[in-house]
Amino acid sequence: MSRLIVVSNRVPPPADKGASAGGLAVALQAALRDRGGLWLGWSGETAATEAESEEIKTRVEGNITFSLVDLTKRDQEEYYSGFANRALWPLLHYRLDLADFDRRDTTGYFRVNAFFARILAAQIQPDDVIWVQDYHLIPLAAELRARGITNKIGFFLHIPWPPADVFFAMPWHRRLLEAFTSYDLVGFQIDYDAENFVNCLVREGLGRETSRGTFKAGEREFKIGAFPIGIETAEFTSVAVEAEHNALVKRMAVSLNNRKLIIGVDRLDYSKGIDQRMLAYERFLENTPSAHGKVTYLQVTPKSRSDVPEYAEMQREIAETAGRINGAFSDIDWVPIRYINRTVKRTTLAGLFRMADIGLVTPLRDGMNLVAKEFVAAQKPEDPGVLVLSRFAGAARELDGAVLVNPYDMESTGGAIAGAIEMPLEERIARWRSMYDQLTRYDVNYWCESFLKALETQHNVPAFGS
Ligand code: G6P
Repeated sequence: MSRLIVVSNRVPPPADKGASAGGLAVALQAALRDRGGLWLGWSGETAATEAESEEIKTRVEGNITFSLVDLTKRDQEEYYSGFANRALWPLLHYRLDLADFDRRDTTGYFRVNAFFARILAAQIQPDDVIWVQDYHLIPLAAELRARGITNKIGFFLHIPWPPADVFFAMPWHRRLLEAFTSYDLVGFQIDYDAENFVNCLVREGLGRETSRGTFKAGEREFKIGAFPIGIETAEFTSVAVEAEHNALVKRMAVSLNNRKLIIGVDRLDYSKGIDQRMLAYERFLENTPSAHGKVTYLQVTPKSRSDVPEYAEMQREIAETAGRINGAFSDIDWVPIRYINRTVKRTTLAGLFRMADIGLVTPLRDGMNLVAKEFVAAQKPEDPGVLVLSRFAGAARELDGAVLVNPYDMESTGGAIAGAIEMPLEERIARWRSMYDQLTRYDVNYWCESFLKALETQHNVPAFGS
């Protein structure tokens, strides 16, 4: 089997640091473990000079070698905080109102991609298969091709792809679309994203679909498909079972004092709809006085991308909303919202999910949302909690047992919370069962294998579920 090279902006922290890796990191590590290989990315550190960022730091964990580079402050500002997170992130999440298209950031984005390509090209062997992750690195294949690399290169986008009229608001949309044509396979989370992307290529006059899932742009032919990402389902379930003995989880159980637990876990990000979710919970409290004192909503929200102004602003807004709701509804012995603004360990989270009666996952737009899947994986089969899920999360296409909500409609989302609390055991079990079966069948290994198979063979891109 040929060696696998994964390239991503964010690389997981060393296993022994005990920090919570994000969903993407956890998924990819699982994928690489079996095959072994190389993982290239940003160290998360700042290089004092450009010369310093040329130094590759190597870390070996089992059969995965990590090749990490520091980025200068300017590179971080322009490529990461700037173009990736102030232009592409809001744009691809349909938030043109928050997008900032800056020429200097764009130059920085393409410059850092060229830098990564230069570092990587020197390490590539003829049989290697390269798998590029996410929106930070769209131009990477084009940069590698320019350096004579002919290996198979795949790209997977973890976040949504919007309709053409949204994407075309980006002044450099054509340059980005052209960059995609250097890949052999471009993967999205759901069919809808892939369709939007094909439509962008066609409307921009970059080629045509020769058959479903195959696109011809000039002389190059490449594949496009949907590969919904999964989690390590069985592993997460056992972490959740184990976590019942976790001291923090036990403390939580005691402090709940038989109240129902509603849980939300999200990076502090405007795409997650946290403010709207709190407002929906407020509607629920207004409309259901009998629930006062009997429910606790725990929202765990680690800070994220604090250098980006829109994130700092949002942090203030959510804290204000939580404070206002607590001020209005709290009693001397009850606080309706517990809002935690820092990271909680993955094992603890698994235990909290398992004890929760409701998982609130209500993003305004989300590529997949692995928290939704982890919540389901953590449940007790004989007494499972209810997943209340936004229809705008990719996961909503798969998790048919969830209670689907429109996160912009606070009144109905509040009603869905009330319904979930009252849901009979039999219905909860039936809903959970069908979701859990789906997650067992389509776990992260399935995701990885189906993507790599489509990348490495001549086969057509499979329709999901076939
Ligand atoms: C999303 C993106 C990932 C990213 C993660 C955390 O899940 O798809 O690529 O790593 O958010 O964001 P951060 O900016 O901290 O890497």
